[in-house]
Amino acid sequence: MAASESPIRVGVVGVGRGRTFMNAASLGFRLVAVCDTWEEKLRSEAARWGVEAYTDFDRFLEHDMDAVVLANYFHEHAPLAVKALQAGKHVMSECAACHTPAEGVALARAFEAAGDRIYMFAENYPFMAYNQELRRLYRSGDFGELRYGEAEYVHPDPARVKNQRSCGVNHWRNWVPWGIYYCTHALGPIMHITDTRPVRVNGFSIPPDPEDETETMTARVSDSAGILMCRLDNGAMAKILQGSLRGHGNYTRLHCRRGLLESTRHGGTGRVRVWREAWEKPEGVPVETVYTPDFPHHHREATAAGHGGGDYFTLYEFAQAIRSGRQPWMDVYRGLDMSLAGILAWRSALADGAPVAIPDFRREDERRQHEHDHLTPNPLAPAEHRLPSSILGAITPTPAGLAQARRDWAEVGYHGV
Ligand SMILES: NC(=O)c1ccc[n+]([C@@H]2O[C@H](COP(=O)([O-])OP(=O)(O)OC[C@H]3O[C@@H](n4cnc5c(N)ncnc54)[C@H](O)[C@@H]3O)[C@@H](O)[C@H]2O)c1
Repeated sequence: MAASESPIRVGVVGVGRGRTFMNAASLGFRLVAVCDTWEEKLRSEAARWGVEAYTDFDRFLEHDMDAVVLANYFHEHAPLAVKALQAGKHVMSECAACHTPAEGVALARAFEAAGDRIYMFAENYPFMAYNQELRRLYRSGDFGELRYGEAEYVHPDPARVKNQRSCGVNHWRNWVPWGIYYCTHALGPIMHITDTRPVRVNGFSIPPDPEDETETMTARVSDSAGILMCRLDNGAMAKILQGSLRGHGNYTRLHCRRGLLESTRHGGTGRVRVWREAWEKPEGVPVETVYTPDFPHHHREATAAGHGGGDYFTLYEFAQAIRSGRQPWMDVYRGLDMSLAGILAWRSALADGAPVAIPDFRREDERRQHEHDHLTPNPLAPAEHRLPSSILGAITPTPAGLAQARRDWAEVGYHGV
């Protein structure tokens, strides 16, 4: 921040993940308010920072501030983003950008109506050092166009960890088929590196494993993992994998016209591997190169931040966009592209992988076709809008799983249903 610039006054919604965005003074933000419906956690966080606390989002929006960061529930970002844009705030939203196509339409329209307000989609995985290096290599043009890509976000956890992140039977982590819906950590890097967008998707879902205690000893009623096969707008295909399978890790692989670019799966997960075919590589250039890249800038600051530095760069990009008045690369439309890929892949998975077109919400004619599409696996949605959370149909937690979840919830102070 230049000495002459005043701080960007920011309010944060959600004091779980939201805490990541509170200490951003070095990037020119000043936290002025926090909002959460869980009052006990809210009060302690507000006291820690010495800022105003709100349990009501509408009252929070009346606070004198420039920007809000939305880190509330996964499936409730778009309605809050719409309100914040209407209140004249810049918005940075956690994933997903929207939970239904109808919400996506409303968000795109609210963004356009808000004029010069910035919307940043806080997808952080593209900003990990290896993904930024893959982008630099790809954008050099030396490897040519993407033909086929793969990316993964595989995140298993013990039952207790899962339970304590998902307090209450209706918590989104218990019913969102996240192996499909939570696709932005893997699809985001492919889009950011190659500047493509998905235009069609086939979704495939792997149902819960009755032999796996990390699933049966929870309150979850959704599938274990999911695969998206995306047709991209340059004709390439990308395979995106998410879920709680064993084999924790993130991965990006790009088969390009003149070589392979990928992150490594072992021997240090932050490394990049470049492969060129011996018969066509330039003279003096090795067939294979493996190295650990630095961040392109702010290496020291990013190295200290969470999610492989990604958390530093989302805030950095948000500040840059507000200061310059130019929308970030991770703008509202790309946030919608990624979120819609997951939403519509679930429709596909329920139809055993049938292809589904992904609309482009930059276009009002495409929006009009989806403005009344409210389908969701949310158990609290009206019956006419409800989809199952598993390809097996409606499933219920085991009695032992529910009892274990309740014990785990009580340990973190949650005593509701
Ligand atoms: N990008 C990443 O690496 C990353 C990592 C973790 C979580 N996330 C995302 O961050 C979001 C929050 O996740 P979390 O891990 O904190 O768990 P969470 O979803 O359980 O927490 C959300 C918090 O928001 C509060 N909240 C819910 N509705 C509210 C409302 N209307 N007004 C005010 N507060 C409200 C809840 O009480 C809770 O404290 C999710 O969308 C998740 O996908 C992203």
